[in-house]
Amino acid sequence: MTRHFLRDDDISPSEQAEILKLALELKANPYAQKPFAGPKTVAVIFDKTSTRTRVSFAVGISDLGGVPLIMDAQGSQMGAKESVADTARVLERQVAQIIWRTYAQAGLQEMAANSKVPVINALSDEFHPCQLLADLLTIQEHKGKLAGLKLVYIGDGNNMANSYLLAGAMAGMHVVVVTPEQYLPSDEVVARADAIAFETGGSVSVSKNPAEAVVGADVLATDTWVSMGKESEKAQRVKDFAGFTIDSTLLALASPDAIVLHCLPAYRGYEISAEVLDGSQAVIWDEAENRLHAQKALMVWLDQRAK
Ligand code: CP
Repeated sequence: MTRHFLRDDDISPSEQAEILKLALELKANPYAQKPFAGPKTVAVIFDKTSTRTRVSFAVGISDLGGVPLIMDAQGSQMGAKESVADTARVLERQVAQIIWRTYAQAGLQEMAANSKVPVINALSDEFHPCQLLADLLTIQEHKGKLAGLKLVYIGDGNNMANSYLLAGAMAGMHVVVVTPEQYLPSDEVVARADAIAFETGGSVSVSKNPAEAVVGADVLATDTWVSMGKESEKAQRVKDFAGFTIDSTLLALASPDAIVLHCLPAYRGYEISAEVLDGSQAVIWDEAENRLHAQKALMVWLDQRAK
């Protein structure tokens, strides 16, 4: 049966480990797998702007022997003129996989429900699961393991917070999400992550106190305070997030060998100081590169299950 990857928990913890192992193999040997040889075409659709996702999927599909068809939704009929379901019915006849960056998770669900080929969430308002595969790969490379590590995410309770909760719990990590009161992550996601952590030996919690939460952290992570679609709230958000910047004072409270993640693009002086972002504990360029390797592994893994 065709599998889709719309949220982090669409795969099991053992499947997550399998994909990460394959990602490491593909990083060592980038042209070893050619599932899209033919070549087959893979659609990559953007309703929102992107640099990393656009480049890493284009390069990854090409490395896997395929042809990337990069589409901006505003240049297609999808949305106002044609339903997502009808778009899926057209695309599935001609492409091997559908990768989509959009707003509502419901749109991705509608696409997947009407597609016989795998659908991948390349970021929605609720989740960024491809980013988390890359982040976990980066942590594994730098720390040699995932299970048992303490990961503290500081910032908006957005799609990245939701994905850290789910994917981190699946990897057996101890995940703490630190946000101001009015920016908490979704209750449904926290409850689901808690249930997953119960099975994997990890844990999840939510805090409003960055200085308290980062003590003993192995990994610190953050994201923009103003996600795509929230631009009109920028001034209010900058006020609300005061005190939630990852700077050298906060980093000094974490483990001395803590690493720092940021999915990028970064806004120096807001969610993270320039000193930390450009400092020796940040592994963000490895993290950005690992989008390529992690997504290639995901596409290979989904292709094997689509047959
Ligand atoms: N991190 C991330 O998804 O980057 P882009 O928005 O540039 O794709």
